[in-house]
Amino acid sequence: MKKVIVWVSALLICSGLLGMTAFAQAPDRAVDKEGHQWWQHAVFYEIYPRSFADSNNDGVGDLKGIASKLDYLKDLGVDAIWISPCFPSPQVDFGYDVSDYENIDPMYGTLADFDVLASEARKRNIRIILDFVVNHSSDQHKWFLDSKSSRTSAHRDWYIWRDGKGPGQPPNNWASTFGGPAWKLDPTTNQYYYHYFYAEQPDLNWRNPAVKDAMFGIETWWYKRGVSGFRLDAVDTLFEDPKLQDNPILHPGTNAFGDPYEDNKNNTKLPEVHDVLRGLRKVADEHNAVLIGETWTTDVAELNQYYGDGNNELQLPMDFLFTMVNKLSPAEFRKQIAAVNGASGWPTFVISNHDIVRSYDRYGDGEHNDQIAKVMAALYLTLRGTPIMYYGEEIGMKTTPPTSKEEVKDPIGRTGWPKEKGRDGERTPMQWDGTANAGFSKAAPWLPVPPTYETHNVAAELKDHNSVLEFYRKVLKLRHDNTALLDGNYKAINETDDNVLSYLRIYKDHGTVVALNMTNAPQKISIGLKGNGFASVKSLLATEKSVATGDDVSLEPYGVFIGELSQ
Ligand code: GLC
Repeated sequence: MKKVIVWVSALLICSGLLGMTAFAQAPDRAVDKEGHQWWQHAVFYEIYPRSFADSNNDGVGDLKGIASKLDYLKDLGVDAIWISPCFPSPQVDFGYDVSDYENIDPMYGTLADFDVLASEARKRNIRIILDFVVNHSSDQHKWFLDSKSSRTSAHRDWYIWRDGKGPGQPPNNWASTFGGPAWKLDPTTNQYYYHYFYAEQPDLNWRNPAVKDAMFGIETWWYKRGVSGFRLDAVDTLFEDPKLQDNPILHPGTNAFGDPYEDNKNNTKLPEVHDVLRGLRKVADEHNAVLIGETWTTDVAELNQYYGDGNNELQLPMDFLFTMVNKLSPAEFRKQIAAVNGASGWPTFVISNHDIVRSYDRYGDGEHNDQIAKVMAALYLTLRGTPIMYYGEEIGMKTTPPTSKEEVKDPIGRTGWPKEKGRDGERTPMQWDGTANAGFSKAAPWLPVPPTYETHNVAAELKDHNSVLEFYRKVLKLRHDNTALLDGNYKAINETDDNVLSYLRIYKDHGTVVALNMTNAPQKISIGLKGNGFASVKSLLATEKSVATGDDVSLEPYGVFIGELSQ
């Protein structure tokens, strides 16, 4: 009997290990009939780890906290979580200053906690995406500590060191995007080093092959640990003009930090970026992984460059132009959706993240914010493409900026106050329930919980069939089950309507219509069933008073109607 148990246990352990290795190295390669990859059908969800869930009650979220919420995420309809940096870091830029790329910050837990999170996520078919800060490290990373130690140190050329132009004069006029000069004089060797972001975030020198090898090695290291891809941070800024030419000044005046407005043509978006992306993609492909890009493009031509010729760079460069349509304008959304649909790769839609004011406030009018949050959910979760949600968006979390300079945690909010209040407002703790600290932590959270947690929290909204959360859950469910929403083409209808954004998603003989009233008055549209090859429509999901009759859809103020079309 004992022998049998030992044998069975060994078998179980082996198959468990095999299963794990199989997932880590060659996860599900299933593609659908149209050849869609897993990341085209997945719903991604960004977690800002400091603010999601605090398991050890120190006021800061952690990996065990995330693990404890996996069932919530699964139930919501999330297929992949992107965790903002959780690596060891002095936390000057809250993790975007990495001092060890292959470990976990003790504040968030341990590598063992990460492994547990990964295996618990895997059990629920949730993939993990990490944030790869490729442009810079922390000034406390051992590479930089060595680099700054002498002009001849082994890592000297891993960063960008130059002599000043003259006494007290940096090598050129480049300003840091976080304010002040982009160069800092280091007294040990009396040279300047370059930092596009904070001085504590020195730029890596990607022209040095050793840097490239080290970073590619890190990419593989995490894939082997079960990660399914990366969100690549600040890819635009990887390379600089080797001659370090001054940037032209765009126009007179100064920004929130008192710096001139410069055209970053010599230190952003250099063509060499694409060689690196192709290299990272090659490694990603070996692991069936996805690369998401923080790509601040100005038009579709630029977006196409990030997909790469033959789609060999980023699978999911985020369309930030969509986030810049900052009003409920059907015409502007239509224009941007059409542009991205005409791009050479698969669209990626985002409406909020840890660097921008939450969608709840950008679109909300102060009176109908919950209805408007539903309109926005119905919009970006029914478009052709991959959506990336931001934690809290699904419960209608509000941006809560600091009210005084003393309260600010994000350093740019202090240097730029009052014009730039920083990004604390969109990073407040997740609102889980109506208890103290919104159930995020038993200790005082690192950022204050907004007073709206009393009405907008997961526990309360799960009980209210009319809540923003319930609406998100329904749209997400629909999106996973509906072939036309997953694979269908996008076709705009009623293209001159200034009040209602409406479109069809058509996959073979399956059709879905989406109609979104972006105004505070009732509206009506026609679907054009016949002309589009359909005979009737049936409601799949609609707000209370939005209905279809024959070819027409009537929408209440800020109403949503999603319907199935039949032939
Ligand atoms: C990206 C991140 C932002 C960070 C910056 C520097 O823009 O999203 O939060 O401050 O990179 O790493």
